[in-house]
Amino acid sequence: MNAAEPDQTFEDEASLQLNDDGSLRHLLTLKGLDHSTLVDLLDEAESYLRPEGALPARSGALAGRTVANLFFEPSTRTRASFDLAGKRLGADVLNLDVNTSSRKKGESILDTIYTLEAMRCDIMVVRDASAGVPAYIAKHVKDHVSILNAGESDVSHPTQGLLDLLTIRRHKGNFDNLTVAFVGDIRHSRVVRSTAWGLRTLGVDSFRLISPPAMAPDADDMPFATIVDNLEEGLAGADVIMALRIQRERIGNLDGIPSIDEYFANFGISHDRMKLAKPDAIVMHPGPMNRGIEIEGALADSAQSVITEQVANGVAVRMAVLARVAQSLGRR
Ligand code: NCD
Repeated sequence: MNAAEPDQTFEDEASLQLNDDGSLRHLLTLKGLDHSTLVDLLDEAESYLRPEGALPARSGALAGRTVANLFFEPSTRTRASFDLAGKRLGADVLNLDVNTSSRKKGESILDTIYTLEAMRCDIMVVRDASAGVPAYIAKHVKDHVSILNAGESDVSHPTQGLLDLLTIRRHKGNFDNLTVAFVGDIRHSRVVRSTAWGLRTLGVDSFRLISPPAMAPDADDMPFATIVDNLEEGLAGADVIMALRIQRERIGNLDGIPSIDEYFANFGISHDRMKLAKPDAIVMHPGPMNRGIEIEGALADSAQSVITEQVANGVAVRMAVLARVAQSLGRR
């Protein structure tokens, strides 16, 4: 980010994302998003789910609208599901090829956004490696434009958080008395920073953040969670276990980061280790997954794994978010 693109705080983001009447204007963060908005989005997403083999849900909720996907970092699941979600709601969807976009020629992100605004893009979906970018853009767009955060540095990934909440709700029924364990590179994970804050708002109060010391978060980062450096201790009696990828692209200095074999031996989730968790515990992973590093391949493919359901729920959640902001676009 250059000097003209200042950092935003969470407080800015949380207040920026709602209209005066409380409806969703942008989706920038789950931290600070209220209980009723979260539940409303999950309920709306649920309405788009269809059994495997059935045709996917469709509607004309976004007919005439244009959604632009701007992914300045790699993505498979998030980008494909925003693309499908927009199309299934009847929008025109523009997938900008950022490798050939003018931002590579030095154009500022705001000039790219203003260009798309002039082409009548209504909803911009943004993934960027720098903290503060989605909120910064949201502050500068016209009243009739919405910004959706599709992954912001190691800070947040709100639609991933929502799809995790939906997946957990569908398996556990509610959020009472759950123990949720995240395992892996907690320090650099934007996923844990969205999913955990969303779960917290929905009533979960037992969180374990399990990682080698070099990948542990600061104590005041998620103050409601217990930081654990022993996998067995962290998994004991857990209801939900989420494995996370080592975010090598965000780790400047790899000193203290264990080798792959050492990592799997101490922090890899396997069938054997799952015996420590509750018998009906579910295993999650946001993808992309590194089999044999953070998770045993056979466990990822087992009945305990809900990883492909997370992907299916991701399309539904993104449809829900698009539909909600489009509703408020109509009123602005
Ligand atoms: C995650 C991301 O990009 O933050 N992936 C995703 O969106 N499903 C997790 C990761 O990259 O490890």
